[in-house]
Amino acid sequence: MNVILLGLPGAGKGTQAARISDKFNIPHISTGDMFRAAMKNKTPLGLEAKKYMDAGDLVPDEVTNGIVKERLQQDDAKRGFLLDGYPRTLNQAQALQQALASSNRRLQHVLYIKVPKEILMERLTGRFMCSNCGATYHKTMNPPKVEGTCDKCGAHDFYQREDDKPETVKNRIDVNEEQTEVLVRHYADYDLVREIDGEQDPKKVFQDIVDQLN
Ligand code: AP5
Ligand code: MG
Ligand code: ZN
Repeated sequence: MNVILLGLPGAGKGTQAARISDKFNIPHISTGDMFRAAMKNKTPLGLEAKKYMDAGDLVPDEVTNGIVKERLQQDDAKRGFLLDGYPRTLNQAQALQQALASSNRRLQHVLYIKVPKEILMERLTGRFMCSNCGATYHKTMNPPKVEGTCDKCGAHDFYQREDDKPETVKNRIDVNEEQTEVLVRHYADYDLVREIDGEQDPKKVFQDIVDQLN
């Protein structure tokens, strides 16, 4: 199964991607996570991406298209994949299309997680992650079951993302808003888009996604 997750920053792409990847046994490919890993290791890719990510701007298409193309050629992605945060521009959608066509693959589903813009700022500024396994939480809307302990791995260390400061969040939402609409229209032309109400409880959002994928 080849799936794309579309949605504004904070819509819940990462939260749902973790569950989808577990249930359907397909790799979760997040360009944001790939850039953050590269930044942490201070690779040339990481240093380049940092210039854009710190401001909440998009990393140039040539850079992003290259890393995704390479990732999709790895064995685990040949039986299916879940793209989170890619494509984000029409140019990226076209590059993806070409990469898939050249290996006789095609997209099956484009899930668009829709959340009113007003909620996103609160979701992102209250978000925190487990330092050990990366599980994502929210101070009030999605806290761990036991305060200070990760549900998934039991670790006690958490961190916040650099780009979740209010000024950066605002720019991320603005930058992505128009592009997301363009992509939704683009994939609607191929009748691939399934709209998901992302304002519901995470469990209910997941249930709706599973219903769409089955
Ligand atoms: P990326 O890492 O993809 O960030 P983003 O698109 O801004 O999205 P987020 O990861 O912030 O949100 P999410 O939808 O995953 O929400 P989450 O599940 O965490 O990209 C970061 C940067 O990398 C970009 O700004 C850009 O610079 C660069 N980049 C990445 N891809 C690129 C590309 N293709 N081209 C160019 N540049 C690229 O949830 C958010 C919060 O809400 C959490 O606290 C969570 O617990 C909570 N929550 C989730 N669901 C619910 C719910 N249903 N109810 C209540 N709370 C919820
Ligand atoms: Mg994410
Ligand atoms: Zn953890």
